[in-house]
Amino acid sequence: MSKQVLILKGDHIGPEIVDESLKVLRKVDEQFGLELVFEEGLLGGAACDAVGEPCPDETLEKARRSDAILMGSVGGPEWDGLERHLRPEKGLLKLRSGLELFGNLRPAILYPQLAEASSLKPEIVAGLDILIVRELTGGIYFGEPRGIRVLENGEREGYNTYKYSESEIRRIGKVAFEAAMVRDRRVCSVDKANVLEATVLWREIMEEVAKDYPEVELSHMYVDNAAMQLVKAPKQFDVMVTGNMFGDILSDAAAMLTGSIGMLPSAALDKNGKGLYEPCHGSAPDISGQGLANPLATILSAAMMLRYSLNAPDAAVAIEEAVSRVLDQGLRTPDIHTEGTRKVSTSEMGDAVLAAL
Ligand code: NAI
Ligand code: MG
Repeated sequence: MSKQVLILKGDHIGPEIVDESLKVLRKVDEQFGLELVFEEGLLGGAACDAVGEPCPDETLEKARRSDAILMGSVGGPEWDGLERHLRPEKGLLKLRSGLELFGNLRPAILYPQLAEASSLKPEIVAGLDILIVRELTGGIYFGEPRGIRVLENGEREGYNTYKYSESEIRRIGKVAFEAAMVRDRRVCSVDKANVLEATVLWREIMEEVAKDYPEVELSHMYVDNAAMQLVKAPKQFDVMVTGNMFGDILSDAAAMLTGSIGMLPSAALDKNGKGLYEPCHGSAPDISGQGLANPLATILSAAMMLRYSLNAPDAAVAIEEAVSRVLDQGLRTPDIHTEGTRKVSTSEMGDAVLAAL
C-alpha cells in the first residue's frame, strides 16, 4: 500500500537539506519497495511570500491527508519585520496544534566517530543512543489558570498551573512504550512525585500503560536525579518519558551531550502515529545557499519517519547505518569537521549517504 509523504522545504537551508533527504528517501523507497508518494507544500517564509500567510489552509489539508510530514526549517531575518501572527515560525505552531502533535521524540545519538564533539569525556558518552519522549501540548506550559495577579497586601504574584489528565498521560505513555518496543525495551518515566501531586498521578498512569507492554521494563526517576544521571552516566537510559517542562529542559541538555546541532533529528507525533519530522536546528540564514549546511539531521529525521510513521524500520536502520559508514569514511560538513577528516559540501554529504546505501 502506498504511503503519502508531505514535503515542506521551508526557508534558507531548508530546501538544501530536504533535497538531500529526498535523494536518500527515493533510494530506500526503491530498495525496500516502500511505495512512497511525495507531495510538496508551502510553509514558513516561502508561504508568506507566495500567499501572504505562513501556514495556508491548503498546507494543513495536505498534512491531514498525508501519512507523515518531512520538514526542513522555517524563518529568516527578511520576515522578522512582519506582525507576530504572520511570522514563519507561527506557521509551524499552527501546523503542530492543528494536527495535535503532542508526542515529541528527541533522540540524543552520539556517533562514536564524533565523540570529540561532546562536552563529556568520550568513555562516558561514545555510542550514546537515548530517546526523550516529551509531552508537547499540555502541562504547565498550557495549564489554566495562569498569569500575574495582585494580592490583598498589594504585592504581585506570578502563577501557572501544572496539570495533566489521565488521558493526556496515557497517550504520551503509549508513545514512549511503542518507541521502546522498537528499541531496547526500557522506559524511564521522569517526574517529581515526591513533591508534585500531579505527577503522582503521572506515575500511576505510567504503571497502568506498562501493563499493556509486558516486554518493556518501566522505571521511575525524579527529575533532579534524572538531570544528574544524564550528565553522569547518560548511557544507562533507553527511552525517557516526561511532561512538557521537564522534557524541554532534559531534552536540550541531552541533545547537547552530542555536541552538534547539525546531527539531531526530531519528531512530533499525533495519536495515530502520524508525525512531523524535522531537524532540531533552524534555517541557518548565515550559511544558506553556500553548500555548507549539514544535511544529516534531516536525513536522520527521514529515518525516524520511516520507523515511527511509515512502518519501515529496516529502511530506517539502513539509513542510520549508511550515515555511520559515511562518518567512518571521515567525511564531514564544516560544522563537524575536525583535523584529519575531509570537508565536504551539503550535496557531497547526501551523495555519500546514497553511495553507502
Ligand atoms: P539555527 O539553528 O538556524 O542556527 C544556529 C547556528 O547553527 C548557526 O550558526 C547555524 O549556521 C548553525 N547551524 C544550524 N543548522 C545547521 C546545519 N544543518 N549545518 C551546519 N550548521 C548549522 O538557529 P538561529 O540562528 O537561532 O535561527 C535562524 C532562524 O531559524 C530564525 O528565523 C529562527 O526563528 C528559525 N528557527 C526555526 C526552527 C524550525 O524551523 N523548527 C527552529 C529554530 C529556529
Ligand atoms: Mg527548549
